[in-house]
Amino acid sequence: MYNPFTLQGKTILVTGASSGIGRAVAIECSRLGANLIITGRDERRLKATFEDLDDYKHQMILADLRVNDNIDRLVKSLPCLDGVVHCAGIADPLPFKFVTQQKLEDILKINFISPTLITREIVKKNLLSKNASIVFISSISGVFCSSVGGSMYSASKGAINGLTKGIAIDLATKGIRVNSVCPGMIETNIFEDGRVSKDQLTEDVKRYPLKRYGKPEEVAFAAIYLLSDASVWVTGSNLLIDGGYTLL
Ligand SMILES: NC(=O)c1ccc[n+]([C@@H]2O[C@H](COP(=O)([O-])OP(=O)(O)OC[C@H]3O[C@@H](n4cnc5c(N)ncnc54)[C@H](OP(=O)(O)O)[C@@H]3O)[C@@H](O)[C@H]2O)c1
Repeated sequence: MYNPFTLQGKTILVTGASSGIGRAVAIECSRLGANLIITGRDERRLKATFEDLDDYKHQMILADLRVNDNIDRLVKSLPCLDGVVHCAGIADPLPFKFVTQQKLEDILKINFISPTLITREIVKKNLLSKNASIVFISSISGVFCSSVGGSMYSASKGAINGLTKGIAIDLATKGIRVNSVCPGMIETNIFEDGRVSKDQLTEDVKRYPLKRYGKPEEVAFAAIYLLSDASVWVTGSNLLIDGGYTLL
């Protein structure tokens, strides 16, 4: 059947695959025929994703991406890749006056430095096939807007978008494409720690022209477009997917 978005036979690494957007990316990619290498920290949740993948050749690697040795071990276990989707991330909203160097380093480490180092190592070790595609899950925050207490998170996501454009230029000669996806609010566990109240979320959702938050699969479909050969002439882009939020 004609399908320009197929991922049949492609091998794709997904970080943050134990939850939310990463889990949806892994599952939807497997439905389109990809072989997945999924990584996360929580063994039980990562295994749950692994068990929900469609039946191809998949691999699961536990790694805490705050730890450089774990990053090295992860990269050493990788085969040749056709795609990478960097989904691992944390939010940690905090009023600016309470920002500390440690907190800033923690959020930058997961959201910006780890995906940068993983990508650099994969490139250095020539683990990317010709026409491979790298996708960073960024955000509307730090790129199109921000939110109360969102300074550290916005900084980390703004950095990812800049990184995307820079690497896209460096890798274009090899035919490797690099893009980011910038979602608005998506229904995942990321704000489940109670610091953003249910009432705040109920008010916030009203500001979306499409009157709801996004679903993890809807971000996965954007990532799939960027991983597939349908987007073979797309590089350095920051794909907005936000239910119209940034229109207003
Ligand atoms: N949800 C939203 O509204 C939204 C909007 C825009 C952008 N995003 C971005 O989308 C990405 C995924 O977020 P989500 O909403 O799916 O969040 P989530 O459900 O909380 O999932 C976060 C994922 O990141 C992994 N992770 C966190 N710290 C890690 C570490 N130190 N080492 C390895 N993995 C780690 C988690 O693994 P474990 O569970 O195994 O620890 C989990 O798989 C993030 O980059 C986030 O910034 C989310």
